[in-house]
Amino acid sequence: WYNSRTREKNVTMANTSPEIVLLMGPPGAGKGTQAVKLARARSLLKLSTGDMLRDHVKRGTELGQQAKAIMDAGQLVSDEIVIGMVRAEINGLNPVRVLFDGFPRTPAQADALDNLLKEFNTGITGVVLLEVNEDELVQRLLERTQKEGRSDDTEEVIRERMKVYKSSTQPVVDYYEKRSKLRRVDGIGSVEEVFARISEVLP
Ligand code: AP5
Repeated sequence: WYNSRTREKNVTMANTSPEIVLLMGPPGAGKGTQAVKLARARSLLKLSTGDMLRDHVKRGTELGQQAKAIMDAGQLVSDEIVIGMVRAEINGLNPVRVLFDGFPRTPAQADALDNLLKEFNTGITGVVLLEVNEDELVQRLLERTQKEGRSDDTEEVIRERMKVYKSSTQPVVDYYEKRSKLRRVDGIGSVEEVFARISEVLP
């Protein structure tokens, strides 16, 4: 997303209709992996709030300094911060063609997104929920920690992130399910297999 300004131009040139896709799922479900492929395939600007926050931490910005301890504990960064970051990225997009990875994660973020999109006279195209059982999730993240060493990929913090997902983000899943926006996708299988399933369920 760091190249979002450049990519934004390409997106604008190639497509004229708005499209907003949300990629949801518990930690380790494969959101980030699939987001890269999906954004490319559908000419969408990928906005990953986790990547955006990690970039702030890396650059040592004030926001990053506030977020670091919260992320390392597996908790959610405040709605205010996250919504502000998303708003800043969306502002000026025309048309809005965005793939969200890991946002919204709370009912307040979902409300804020609805309101934000109303300002653009548009709405959510589709929500994909990647479903993977907890044993596989933990195994994937513990494997990743050996390669990447992400500071929130310790077993204790992974378990906390799972808990936070269930308490704070599951209600968002229910919210989209009630509005018939949610498409459940089996997230077990090769990256290509999962990608094919996602492509099938999106309008
Ligand atoms: P975020 O970065 O969003 O982390 P997460 O939701 O915990 O998700 P992960 O990145 O761990 O997993 P993923 O589903 O993207 O899977 P991935 O493709 O990487 O958030 C981090 C933190 O930032 C949060 O805890 C919070 O503090 C904060 N934050 C972010 N957004 C926020 C928000 N909106 N509000 C408040 N706070 C927020 O894959 C995982 C591993 O599995 C990789 O190693 C990958 O190679 C592997 N893998 C992928 N697909 C497959 C497959 N099909 N088969 C086998 N392995 C696979």
